[in-house]
Amino acid sequence: MTGQESTEVLIVGGGIAGCAAALTAARQNADVTLATKARRPEDASTWWAQGGIAIARGDPEQFKQDVIEASAGTADPAAVETLVENADEAVRDVLVETLDVPFDTADGNDEDFDFGREAAHDEERILHVDASTGSYVLERFLAFVDDHPNIRVLDDTAALDLITHEGQVRGAYLASEGDVWPVFAGATVLATGGVGDLYPDSTNPSGSTGDGIAMAALAGADVTNMEFVQFHPTVYVDEEGTLLISEAVRGEGAVLRNAYGERFMPAYDEDADLAPRDVVARAVKNEREISGEVFLDVSEIDFDGRFPDLVEQCEQRGIDWESGIPVTPAQHFLCGGIDVDDRGRTSLDGLYAVGECAHTGVHGANRLASTSLLEGLVWGLRAGEDAVGRSPQPMDVPNLDDRDPALPDSFAREKFTRLRRVMDEYVGIEREPDELNRALGVLRRLKGEVDAYVRTRTSRSLYELRNASVVALLIARAAADNDESIGTHNLVTETDPAAVESP
Ligand code: SIN
Repeated sequence: MTGQESTEVLIVGGGIAGCAAALTAARQNADVTLATKARRPEDASTWWAQGGIAIARGDPEQFKQDVIEASAGTADPAAVETLVENADEAVRDVLVETLDVPFDTADGNDEDFDFGREAAHDEERILHVDASTGSYVLERFLAFVDDHPNIRVLDDTAALDLITHEGQVRGAYLASEGDVWPVFAGATVLATGGVGDLYPDSTNPSGSTGDGIAMAALAGADVTNMEFVQFHPTVYVDEEGTLLISEAVRGEGAVLRNAYGERFMPAYDEDADLAPRDVVARAVKNEREISGEVFLDVSEIDFDGRFPDLVEQCEQRGIDWESGIPVTPAQHFLCGGIDVDDRGRTSLDGLYAVGECAHTGVHGANRLASTSLLEGLVWGLRAGEDAVGRSPQPMDVPNLDDRDPALPDSFAREKFTRLRRVMDEYVGIEREPDELNRALGVLRRLKGEVDAYVRTRTSRSLYELRNASVVALLIARAAADNDESIGTHNLVTETDPAAVESP
């Protein structure tokens, strides 16, 4: 599997966006290589998507308005237009007709989908399979790309760096089982997902180290809106890790209560528990600080009938859900990323980015629920279509396989702990200008230490740490440079310690 290789389209990442790019490139008879560092489907964020995938359902204008309102008016209307105008057709063609995803239907009638609702959506427009939509989509998508004669899938294979020549991207170094080798590609599509590993508590799978963003930024691509890190308001956290409690549960009528049993969201926003995610996350944080705990009260809904998979997971974790599910905000999604146009083209020739690692403009400062699978699907299809037809241009490149021995795993673990502590304390749901500057100092030092090792060593864990430290710096720098508190970028001052006044 090593030596030099060439492919027409190299896709890095095996979630919905990478698979969609592979599908559409392969439909045009391109020779596609899809490299994913995932060892199992659960290693991709798509697998964990609960709520579902929103579509326009004959009212695109209202859908566009909801996306823009949830973003506090900061989403790019042209990008929102691309998302919404392509939504229904992309879902019908790929998810319904090609992959046969068994979306829930009303009364078992195949033609009559059971559309769900989530926060900041004006109506029921979300296709779902229980609250496990992502796993049903990804299982089928992976089977499709695995079986496709034009697509070669390399799993447990990380991309370490892009290969560039005079501003043009010509492929990437791949690494698997200790080997590192260059793959030259006519087009390289990054679909590497999010940045959850930069925070102690995240709904992302482990391994979400922002690889594509770091590789693109180091190659000179533009990245945008990195300060906009979204925290999901209703996550159960214990020593086993996080358990997301989908917004669809509030969409069905569950409500948040503080430790005194009081409903508090109506005092924070006229849409109460269905306010945009950033508003609810700040309120939950605030009420936890004031009263000690916040619970999601599911007593007035048919929780076990409507969300059997969540009930099962709650019971496995020993959560007495009938008495309310203890919840806290946790890192969930990066709204910014590698800047791309409406076909996923980055500022570098030959390089595309799709899915969470890309900044399309759709989410602005805060993402509307159940639009991430949709964005990955729509931009993945468009980028894959655009990426075909370019021939790979092999060239002489350094041999990264021939380096010093790998560092012990404890090296990366220790530095990750420091990085996460800084991001949690200073670059989390509330940010204070002085603390952002402190974070920048610590992160610069950390990146310097890691860079010194990357010069002579090659290992997946070291490069993941390098990527995480690059992306952490990009987030902290963007946050320090933006003095407007908006959406998920929530600035507080020492005299105003709580971002949200207790109403
Ligand atoms: C959820 O189910 O609450 C998450 C959906 C999303 O992030 O869009």
